[in-house]
Amino acid sequence: MRRIKVGILASGRGSNLQALITASRDGKIDADIAIVISDRADAVALERAREAGVDAHYVDPHRKGPRLTEGSESEIIRLLDEAEVDLVALAGFMRILGPRLLRHFSRRIINIHPSLLPSFPGLHVQKKALEYGVKYSGATVHFVDEGVDTGPIIVQAAVPVLEGDTVEILSERILGEEHRIYAEAVQLFAEGRLKIEGRVVHILPERRSDAGFDQL
Ligand code: GRF
Repeated sequence: MRRIKVGILASGRGSNLQALITASRDGKIDADIAIVISDRADAVALERAREAGVDAHYVDPHRKGPRLTEGSESEIIRLLDEAEVDLVALAGFMRILGPRLLRHFSRRIINIHPSLLPSFPGLHVQKKALEYGVKYSGATVHFVDEGVDTGPIIVQAAVPVLEGDTVEILSERILGEEHRIYAEAVQLFAEGRLKIEGRVVHILPERRSDAGFDQL
């Protein structure tokens, strides 16, 4: 089976990016990280990419706030196309994608989120989970649609919320699961085993032959 090429968009420390780089290097996923793009020139994610020998680019977002300008989106699309990516993985990318990017990579953009969606979309979700008093939280990998953390769910993992948890402790517990399930989701995609029906993602028991991910 051919290996897929993944492009990663990240804004911050890049621990999920690192988990995917490591999984790729160790042969745990049939995927190569082809390019990393950040909207922050100083993102640790870019350093991690360069250290791993992965093509790393800063794209100026040209504005504050959650959305990119059309020009920035065009630049991101150009870079991803040049790298011939099959899949785009958001890993702590702090921007909402616009319709052009979403259409260009329709059903080929995934995101990792540190809660059990649809509970607690958006930001500061570990704090919100603690304040709400849930007994379980977790992590979700989902396809990206035009909403914020609303797309079809691919994989989830639950973690318990324990007495005495702080935001830091709970975040750390969730992060361990994030790293595991992000690699799992990328591998399912690479194996062509994800089939979207409505908002439900079915996980097929059998690996689909070459380029099965085109049949999503
Ligand atoms: C993770 O918690 C991820 O779920 C969320 O942003 C955080 C990014 O962390 N979307 P890192 O940059 O991958 O370490």
